Amino acid sequence: MTRRFLNYIDGKWREPKSEQWFQRENPANGEAIGSFPNSGPNDVSDAVGAAVAALERWQMTPAPRRAEILFRVGEMMVARKEDLSRDVTTEMGKVLKEARGDVQEAIDMTYYAAGEGRRMFGQVVPSELPNKFAMAVRQPHGVVAAITPWNFPLAIPCWKLMPALVTGNTVVFKPSPYSPLSASNLIALLDEAGIPPGVVNLVFGEDETGAALVEDPRLNMISFTGSLEVGREIGVYCARNSKRVHLEMGGKNAIIVLDDADVELAIEGAVWSAFGTSGQRCTAASRMIVQKPLADVFAEKLVARAKGLRLGDGLDPQTDVGPVVNQPQLEKIQQYVNIGVGEGAAIAYGGSRPDNGELAKGYFFQPTVFVDVRPEMRIAQEEIFGPVTDIILCSDLEEAVRINNNVPYGLVTSIYTRDVSKAFKAMERITTGIVYINAGTIGAEVHLPFGGTRGTGSGDREAGQAALDSYTEWKTVYIDYSGRLQKAQIDLE
Ligand code: UN1
Repeated sequence: MTRRFLNYIDGKWREPKSEQWFQRENPANGEAIGSFPNSGPNDVSDAVGAAVAALERWQMTPAPRRAEILFRVGEMMVARKEDLSRDVTTEMGKVLKEARGDVQEAIDMTYYAAGEGRRMFGQVVPSELPNKFAMAVRQPHGVVAAITPWNFPLAIPCWKLMPALVTGNTVVFKPSPYSPLSASNLIALLDEAGIPPGVVNLVFGEDETGAALVEDPRLNMISFTGSLEVGREIGVYCARNSKRVHLEMGGKNAIIVLDDADVELAIEGAVWSAFGTSGQRCTAASRMIVQKPLADVFAEKLVARAKGLRLGDGLDPQTDVGPVVNQPQLEKIQQYVNIGVGEGAAIAYGGSRPDNGELAKGYFFQPTVFVDVRPEMRIAQEEIFGPVTDIILCSDLEEAVRINNNVPYGLVTSIYTRDVSKAFKAMERITTGIVYINAGTIGAEVHLPFGGTRGTGSGDREAGQAALDSYTEWKTVYIDYSGRLQKAQIDLE
């Protein structure tokens, strides 16, 4: 019998009314992790109902008191970091070192959001009239649905839950069915830290559960990280129904390597950004835009490094690259590789599953490098979310920036150059939400805005001060203590 996990609604662990369950296995070896509720509309409705009922009291709880609970969760995550990290690796495959990074990012976000309990700055400005006070304060949206992906099973839920909670929202959390264990761990910590019943609710489930949640009319805001396809549907629904929405939907990120770059440094950045987390990051570098004189040597070095990467179980310290998350993801990656070949691109390395006996038990895919890629090819335009990267040639900085910007996404760009003028020019003209100079595309820190342009998102940002804007509404307050009717714009004397 595998372990059974439960939903968490109104402060209690509950069996699903749907009586449906799904099983989850370790993607590296197929070993069972547990069974989780496949929640139905009644479960979702109970969770939203609990969040609605808890709202008023939570909003009236002073923010520094709300933050104390978050600080406690942060402390517990620090104390249990190793166990939490192992669970991340076990359920979605990333190597343990990276899983520790995932948990650290969750800790950082939790402390950062908790700090906002005593800050959460508003605006106080002079009024144009005498004896009148003018300010703007933040207020929560109300009930927030947090729908999260599997690639950062702890960090991304914390990016959403922590700022939502400290600002006074209550939450219904629906994690990806491919990372339910870490979601359960996080909610257990919030419970232990004393989060009041109903303030956070967890419903496990698949797409139908997510759809039932999104369509609950009692929600005030939906925060979603996942595919462009699903995100757009949620965006349209929210626009039609006047709901606040925050969307994060991926990237087609590039590393630009100019001919004056430190090539070894660029290669280090490229290997980490293309193959780290098996390419399953929104921030992964799936395009290398290389200035022509460097192209051959860059491709040669990248292929040599890709060949040297060791695939295996992420818990094994020798492993460089873990499995991808599941069979559909594996198939999608293989399909894209076939599309690339069909479009006329050439595989310089990789392109299929490894033919090693042990690895056949898991969802492994070889690190893959494409050459002869034209910028308009599908493999250079669409997000693959696997260990696949393209080398695209450019003649100069202008062309590199044009190729970089001309994709449906706009999350991250990095550029390697030793020329400070070119670095600044690039910084100015690149139209992604995040830019790195002489570093790879991975490395976002929690106290700065995270997100992007075009198809990457809804325009607002996650993390940093920007998260406060995503999870609150402005309330502007005027206090007239003149004792008479004063007319703005009219009483000019
Ligand atoms: C994601 O890929 O969805 O910069 C988030 C990074 C991480 C966050 C990635 N700090 O890659």
